[in-house]
Amino acid sequence: MATKKDKAYLQQFEELDFDGFKNLAKNNKLSKYEKIGFPDEYRKGYEEAIFADILTKLGLNTESNVAGKTYVDIGPGCSDLPFMLIDFFKTKKVNIVLCDSAEMLDLLPKGKNIKKEEGYFPNIKGLEKYNNKADYVVSYSVFHYIAFSSCIYKFIDTALNMLNHGGIFLIGDIPNFSKRKRFFASPAGITYHQNYTQSKTLPKVDFNTLDNGKIDDGMLLGIIARYRNAGYDVYLLPQASNLPMTNRREDIVIYKP
Ligand SMILES: C[S@@+](CC[C@H](N)C(=O)[O-])C[C@H]1O[C@@H](n2cnc3c(N)ncnc32)[C@H](O)[C@@H]1O
Repeated sequence: MATKKDKAYLQQFEELDFDGFKNLAKNNKLSKYEKIGFPDEYRKGYEEAIFADILTKLGLNTESNVAGKTYVDIGPGCSDLPFMLIDFFKTKKVNIVLCDSAEMLDLLPKGKNIKKEEGYFPNIKGLEKYNNKADYVVSYSVFHYIAFSSCIYKFIDTALNMLNHGGIFLIGDIPNFSKRKRFFASPAGITYHQNYTQSKTLPKVDFNTLDNGKIDDGMLLGIIARYRNAGYDVYLLPQASNLPMTNRREDIVIYKP
């Protein structure tokens, strides 16, 4: 059986792009977690906690009167997480808009209040019809797949155009290489590395170097500056401590006042 240390097994999840995800979605030999690019052990048993963290960040734990509002998910995938979100919003009579490939969307439920917008966000035709209409926009564990192949500002600008006043855009589960380095340079990171590798070696951490293709503090803090200057309230937030990659990933929330 493949484990997370099995190179060939892990390789199928490396360098994934939009088309790569389409192929995973069509591959019936894969589990629902593998279809969205994760070995089972990265997601299995964690999605309830991820769901709870998303609801907290959207301010939905206590908010009950959300009927008639609109929720947009950019890149929902097909594991339990989008089912939990769809179920939650459906029960609350919230309109749901799902943007992903046709192959991925085919694996998600249909319904009267569910609209499926097929294609590569932000290039999906006709998205302007949602401008100023969305109350919750979520793109979870997607940003790093477009960050170096697409224009991140076009991605975020387009999502923000959809937001209503009072709306929230959550860009979740962003791997921040600077955060990862800080972790692996710390005593907790060294212990984590030594347990994982079953060795006494130290993690390799290089500072003052250009990390090609990696999202870092510079990119994330730049995003905060750009959209604060554009009139939005923007925050970089930690993930709940019970999430699987809390030591190296974080979330951005953007509020439209
Ligand atoms: C790692 S999965 C995350 C799925 C889900 N959000 C989750 O966290 O469980 C990435 C998803 O984003 C989709 N995706 C990647 N780039 C996209 C884009 N530019 N527009 C729409 N969907 C995209 C993929 O097809 C895939 O379903």
